[in-house]
Amino acid sequence: MERSLSMELVRVTEAAAIASARWMGRGLKIEADDAATTAMRDVFNSIPMQGVVVIGEGEMDEAPMLYIGEELGLGLGGPAVDIAVDPLEGTNIVASGGWNALAVLAIADRGNLLHAPDMYMEKLAVGPESRGKVDINASVTDNLLAVARAKNKDIEDVVATLINRPRHQKLIDEIRRSGARIKLIDDGDVAGAINTAFDETGVDILFGLGGAPEGVIAAVGLKCLGGEIQGRLVPQNEQELQRCIRMGLDVNRVLRMEDLVKGDDAIFAATGVTDGELMRGVQFKGAYAESHSLVMRAKSGTVRFIEGRHSLKKKPHHMMEV
Ligand code: FBP
Repeated sequence: MERSLSMELVRVTEAAAIASARWMGRGLKIEADDAATTAMRDVFNSIPMQGVVVIGEGEMDEAPMLYIGEELGLGLGGPAVDIAVDPLEGTNIVASGGWNALAVLAIADRGNLLHAPDMYMEKLAVGPESRGKVDINASVTDNLLAVARAKNKDIEDVVATLINRPRHQKLIDEIRRSGARIKLIDDGDVAGAINTAFDETGVDILFGLGGAPEGVIAAVGLKCLGGEIQGRLVPQNEQELQRCIRMGLDVNRVLRMEDLVKGDDAIFAATGVTDGELMRGVQFKGAYAESHSLVMRAKSGTVRFIEGRHSLKKKPHHMMEV
């Protein structure tokens, strides 16, 4: 992969974030998602690359754009890559004007991203200090103690994050019994997982069931950051189980970093749509919009925070179309 691809990919998430941020707080999650998807696809198709969507908005017959198998990029002998997209990670967040919605994508050399089915995945994610020291098969308390040891703090100072859902009540009870603290999030476990690798976010470990596609995207981010995510597919019915079997995926097997994203190179790019612990969301300032992005490359380990100022006069397509 070429180094310059990172900057091109930030343009993609910036455009998606700006388009969907226009819908913040309007209670219209589908419109917010459509705006992000359209913008993301348009910019992707201006980049000299040969991309194939392996994680997208759905199967070809379910999604008009960014469907699984869709080819993206100008071609032109550019790098052949797998693409995972979540044009709007946190559709409900944008609809309500909440925290931590992202426009996010990940790429890796062709064949290197797990083609995760759209179902739940049990997840355990940590930042670099705790990498190799946690185990999804161990108890919640043992994992919290391992993180406390790795980060040289008391378990009472460890903060676990998880999506606030009734299905997580047992997990929440166990974390509380261990003495660790909890930061519940309404949605958005890609941000939750990535945040474990940044001290300033105040979270140390992510637990819980979330989308499997989001698990692969988070894996690319954590690979760039030297962190770790472990996952296990959790089919909710016979149909989902059969889907895993057809795809050759063993639901009893723990999916580790190398299963989720192979090879030594991958790129992760995200732009804040609404404000979050790590990045601000898009700010509309009249003549221009400001964006805050994170772009990282696994091979070099470079992590960049990028602030963009986008002239709405020169780029009128960034204005809202209603
Ligand atoms: P959407 O952007 O598709 O709404 O996903 C948001 C999200 O919170 C993900 O971050 C998470 O993995 C998943 O939904 C959890 O699913 P559920 O809402 O069914 O608990």
